[in-house]
Amino acid sequence: MPLKLSKRLTSLLQHCGPDYDAFWDCCCDHGLLGMGLLEQYPQKNVHFVDQVGSITAKLADTLAQLHAQHYQVHTLNAALIDLPPAQHPLIILAGIGGETAIELINGIESRHPSGQRHYLISPNYQLYDLRTFLRQRGFSLLRESLVTENGRHNEILLLSNSGGHKNISPCGEFWQKGSAQQRDYCQRLIRHYAQKQQPDIAAQYTAVAQQYGLLT
Ligand SMILES: C[S@@+](CC[C@H](N)C(=O)[O-])C[C@H]1O[C@@H](n2cnc3c(N)ncnc32)[C@H](O)[C@@H]1O
Repeated sequence: MPLKLSKRLTSLLQHCGPDYDAFWDCCCDHGLLGMGLLEQYPQKNVHFVDQVGSITAKLADTLAQLHAQHYQVHTLNAALIDLPPAQHPLIILAGIGGETAIELINGIESRHPSGQRHYLISPNYQLYDLRTFLRQRGFSLLRESLVTENGRHNEILLLSNSGGHKNISPCGEFWQKGSAQQRDYCQRLIRHYAQKQQPDIAAQYTAVAQQYGLLT
């Protein structure tokens, strides 16, 4: 029976094109995204990484029942993954905080100082800090989108660790579309940063939101 994925995971899966040699579902927990990848690309390598042993043990049992061939399960801090040289991997970091995403990207990049890599990231919080970090680190943007599910908004960014694509803006380009979801999302962000007593960031979001007519 085909896997049934949530709207958020389906959207992440749609960003995983066929051109990668391997997919790394880091911080995989239930492993549903990686399982979706195994279903979509049975001949590709899918790596499942989580630092919690009980999670990876349970996942290994579930995966054994799928009779998939090309996968590996790693019980590991995702900052420490070993990427084989001369491959074009997609590294996926979803469902974690922005600060954790920064730590993991820093770790992975410093362990692999050469090579071009793409990252698919969808963190829960601290998107502003994360976008700033990515810009400073010289990353560029291939695609971005906003997915809303059960009243929660999730940014999804497909990135290259080098230049050559779009610049990463402090807020997503999807802000320009001005739908009810975007309006709600930007109002939540402004409230969040105001409550956290980070008025500079709240003011930047407010300025962009006003520019796009998202605030009434
Ligand atoms: C909320 S789940 C996200 C699951 C899935 N990626 C998703 O988006 O639905 C977060 C998972 O990240 C794992 N995790 C957090 N920090 C990690 C790290 N540094 N290395 C590996 N796994 C980590 C946790 O053990 C947990 O299973």
